[in-house]
Amino acid sequence: MERRVSPMTILLFFIAAFIAAFCSSSIAAQSSSFEDNFNIMWSQDHFKTSEDGQIWSLSLDKETGCGFQTKQRYRFGWFSMKLKLVGGDSAGVVTAYYMCTENGAGPERDELDFEFLGNRTGQPYLIQSNVYKNGTGGREMRHMLWFDPTEEFHTYSILWNDHQIVFFVDSVPIRVYKNADYANDFFPNEKPMYLFSSIWNADDWATRGGLEKTDWKNAPFVSSYKDFSVDGCQWEDPYPACVSTTTKNWWDQYEAWHLSDEQKMDYAWVQRNLVIYDYCKDTKRYPTLPVECSLSPWD
Ligand SMILES: *[C@@H]1O[C@H](CO)[C@@H](O)[C@H](O)[C@H]1NC(C)=O
Ligand SMILES: *[C@@H]1O[C@H](CO)[C@@H](O)[C@H](O)[C@H]1NC(C)=O
Repeated sequence: MERRVSPMTILLFFIAAFIAAFCSSSIAAQSSSFEDNFNIMWSQDHFKTSEDGQIWSLSLDKETGCGFQTKQRYRFGWFSMKLKLVGGDSAGVVTAYYMCTENGAGPERDELDFEFLGNRTGQPYLIQSNVYKNGTGGREMRHMLWFDPTEEFHTYSILWNDHQIVFFVDSVPIRVYKNADYANDFFPNEKPMYLFSSIWNADDWATRGGLEKTDWKNAPFVSSYKDFSVDGCQWEDPYPACVSTTTKNWWDQYEAWHLSDEQKMDYAWVQRNLVIYDYCKDTKRYPTLPVECSLSPWD
């Protein structure tokens, strides 16, 4: 009698094939050791790692905050980190996780930001995102979250290719920033970026527009980071090979140029329920809306 292959065997085969294909397509090394990936930008003494080296904590007190950045630069890819934010009364405190072409606020920088704006005890954190191209930002969005970001680690990720930039919270796309099929000055796609993480005092603007001041009695304020992962094109001067072999990498292929149907449903839910501010709707600030506001996130 012919031996039949069970559906389970076939399923396992596909899972194994998928895992093999997926793993071999990643370019950047996925080492999680802090020293392999990062440098401290400022205040070494406000930085701590857990005993096993897996959790990295940044603290802010009256003297200073703290920040770290990747050693490498990347142009396009998937960038992901888990964060647990300052709990309790964190009004005025901003925790940031962002990508930028340089360490500083230079006039020609490109930048992609996640900023977490603290709040008084029991009041909700807001997550602010922004996109800079050649020194020009002003593209803020603010969202509420559907969980308390101070209780557990959650994953915050950026997908970046030449077609779109998507900001994810866990697996949910909260913001989609599209490129156009014409040359433009709003979509950052030329310069490689570093990844940064930092904590600082922003009580001149962050919480209820600067009305709520940081209460230093609660210092130090501590945010924690772990599980950094990048699957992207690591920059090498003058030009890395992965920039031109785009079809090899999932984050650069057709599927990653738009949201999937499932992502569209999640994104629609976020749009309906969690958006607090969108610069593309702020006609007081922009009587003529910026051109990129006419690009559809659904395309
Ligand atoms: C970038 O901005 C600077 C001014 O800050 C300007 O001189 C330069 O032409 C801009 N570059 C591009 C490519 O638009
Ligand atoms: C802080 O809480 C207040 C009151 O609930 C809310 O209006 C505000 O949007 C919250 N977040 C920030 C960053 O101001």
